[in-house]
Amino acid sequence: MAGNSNNGPTPPVDVVIMAAGKGTRMKSKLPKVLHRLAGRTLVQHVVDTAAALSARQVTVITGHGAEEVEQALAASSSTFELGFVRQEPQLGTGHAVQQTVPVLRDDGIVVVLSGDVPLTQADTLQHLITASAGSQLALLTIDFADPTGYGRIVRSGDAVQAIAEQKDATPGQLAITEVYSGIMAVPALQLKRWLARLDNHNAQGEFYLTQIVKFAVADGVPVVAHKITDAVQVAGVNSPVQLAGLERAYQQRLALHLMEQGVRLADPARLDVRGKLNCAQDVSIDVNCIFEGEVSLGEGVRVGANCVIRNASIAAGAVIHPFTHIEGGPPGSKDAVEVGAGALIGPFARLRPGVRLGAEVHIGNFVEVKNSTLAKGAKANHLAYLGDATVGERVNYGAGSITANYDGAFKHRTVIEADVHIGSNCVLIAPLTIGAGGTVGGGSTLTKDTPPLALTVARGRQLSIPNWKRPRK
Ligand code: UD1
Ligand code: CA
Repeated sequence: MAGNSNNGPTPPVDVVIMAAGKGTRMKSKLPKVLHRLAGRTLVQHVVDTAAALSARQVTVITGHGAEEVEQALAASSSTFELGFVRQEPQLGTGHAVQQTVPVLRDDGIVVVLSGDVPLTQADTLQHLITASAGSQLALLTIDFADPTGYGRIVRSGDAVQAIAEQKDATPGQLAITEVYSGIMAVPALQLKRWLARLDNHNAQGEFYLTQIVKFAVADGVPVVAHKITDAVQVAGVNSPVQLAGLERAYQQRLALHLMEQGVRLADPARLDVRGKLNCAQDVSIDVNCIFEGEVSLGEGVRVGANCVIRNASIAAGAVIHPFTHIEGGPPGSKDAVEVGAGALIGPFARLRPGVRLGAEVHIGNFVEVKNSTLAKGAKANHLAYLGDATVGERVNYGAGSITANYDGAFKHRTVIEADVHIGSNCVLIAPLTIGAGGTVGGGSTLTKDTPPLALTVARGRQLSIPNWKRPRK
């Protein structure tokens, strides 16, 4: 066995995540750990924290909704071995961890986490691992003014002697305010030996993981407490109220972090980031904006109030006016959305997957763009639809005009070459190419390509009948 020393090689970290519990108080069909916080499931947060710890192996203990939980996590990209063990029925936290014994290797340090405690920081766990020094039992603890419900840290002098669960604690122990967070780091070999000795002779008739503290003390293995003060990091989610509370705590921290980088938020309490938001210098964001997936905002970008922006890269100096909705596909895919430098978007604009806008493009109110490329300086300022279109530089696309890109079975492309002016209320029936420098008269319905530089009009000719007498009764 490794010596009791800080200097030896650090053992590999193997993470165990307890996620078998029912979560009755969520009052939901969805397994508790699959509820989302900041766009990711609770258990995904915990798995991502394990990844940040450079874990060798992550084992998730599932029970209630096991298949759903396993399916949700299977897709998560990982730098570690991800495995699942089932716990059926659920006979307590000790019984839960017992299920992992067959898959745990002997040479690791095991970090026990819960799938419903999403906001523990990797550096906190790193400190806990360091505290275990590869051979000791390290408990993450915290002082609570009201410790009701938690396991109390029972000490004799300074030395930790036991964890007394709420329902088993003596009146004296109930007065202890230092509680066990539910998170520990423990050498795998010792853990296995102690798990084999658990019993359920306690007030709840459960196998308590916390019983191992007594075994460690009996075996002369030091038990160390790493005490933190940040309650958010150990807070669990048991109800919609707690979920909303942690969501706010997460968003508040993220907003603070953005402002520390120089981002101007009109109100840090009215920002929601459900993914990654990267901001260059001098970005400002007005109230009630939601960012999803991966969004990057270039230097000086301004985002107006009430915008929802998913998976988009917005270049320097662009302005996104209020109530704009951008829904790009996954970053790096053909569906991602790009907005060029100095572009003006909105208010009330909608950019759908696969939109690429060049510099200084203007997309105005009630304009919908899908799977289209607009080159530098192109404008569609009012009430229009561009789908499956390639639009050249400086094109002006009139109010009320649409590309009819779908014939009921297939999608076709519309090409509008540079310097074209499309009048108002045109219907461009794809496939179609409008030649460079051409003009299309308002109200035209086009079914054939048009030559460069021509004026094309395709509508009934205007006719006036002089002195027209209306019928009379
Ligand atoms: C546990 C600790 C307590 C600590 C508290 C912190 C024990 C006996 N007690 O209590 O000292 O202060 O956490 O929140 O460990 N789970 C399973 N299978 C089971 C039982 C639980 O997977 O059979 C999972 C739950 O889904 C949850 C986690 O383990 O994610 C903790 O279970 P929970 O019932 O919340 O433990 P507590 O009784 O609160
Ligand atoms: Ca709990």
